[in-house]
Amino acid sequence: MPHQVFRVPTPQQRFSEREPAPAAVERRGGGSSGEILAGFLAPHPPHLVYAENPPANEPRSEGGWEVLRWAYQDIRRKIREELRPDVIVIHAPHWITMIGHHVNCVPNPRGFSVEPIFPDLLRFHYDFKTDVPLAEAVYEEAVSEGLVARRMDHPGVRIDYATIGSLYLLNPEGDIPVVSLSCNNNPYFYTHEGLDDMERLGTATRRAIERSGKRVILAASNSLSHIHFDETPNPPEDMSKEHPMTFDAYRWDIRMLELLRRGRTREVRELIPEYIEATAAEIKGGALSWMLSAMEWPEIPARVLGYQTVIGTGNAVAEWPLVGNGNGSAYLGG
Ligand SMILES: [Fe+2]
Repeated sequence: MPHQVFRVPTPQQRFSEREPAPAAVERRGGGSSGEILAGFLAPHPPHLVYAENPPANEPRSEGGWEVLRWAYQDIRRKIREELRPDVIVIHAPHWITMIGHHVNCVPNPRGFSVEPIFPDLLRFHYDFKTDVPLAEAVYEEAVSEGLVARRMDHPGVRIDYATIGSLYLLNPEGDIPVVSLSCNNNPYFYTHEGLDDMERLGTATRRAIERSGKRVILAASNSLSHIHFDETPNPPEDMSKEHPMTFDAYRWDIRMLELLRRGRTREVRELIPEYIEATAAEIKGGALSWMLSAMEWPEIPARVLGYQTVIGTGNAVAEWPLVGNGNGSAYLGG
């Protein structure tokens, strides 16, 4: 029997005569002009932000991890010059919520965030805007989907370094509004059952975007294989020390990326549990499942712009272009 993880009643059960449905669950406007322009695999190792030397980050570096940083440069140019999205919706594994999926509805999150494992690399002053109507819509659709979900309205909450890192690397100007989703930590305790919830969260996200009328890009903030060194080189950006933690983890990363480059998302979906088991892949947090589900598991070639290790973990920057130069059959890249 499948494991049930904090299941809640269906909307029909939940919103009976006794407990009327919130107005928001009734589809507002019925608009269909909102769309997902592209999805990005956008890893967040603090090393990448450190290597960029942004004024907002206190530590200084000599660079490093250029393959991933050049890949990010490519997608930054595309986001700014071609896609010009209204919103970035991001799912990150280090905003951990123990019960339910939380959506940041704070209009202007800002503060100072220190990476707890690598405080020598990331001490970052962040400041971004939330698209509150879309954030609220994602929350409402998640509830409608039968998920346990919460709004997060506390302005003083400290934003996790995965959200901060990926947002900086995708849009260093910080001028594109954001919807930030938490990582319900259930998958870490309940094997892979939580990934089903992540797919449902993806469905809810897509519905919210469609009715918002907004042009949106998605970001799955995670590494791939996630077994790493237990000591940092000195200096951290000494690239002569960088290599995959194990050959097996590298093999798995490349196998999955090759499938994604061929548009074989159905096979990837089947392999995700085995991949997580073999490599402690950070997609266990659900970001990739959420994003691919929101995009309805597109069978188009992912543009893998770069793959490199960071303290032994596998990281890829990749794009699923749903509009523009790639709308499925018309797209020939890879
Ligand atoms: Fe991480």
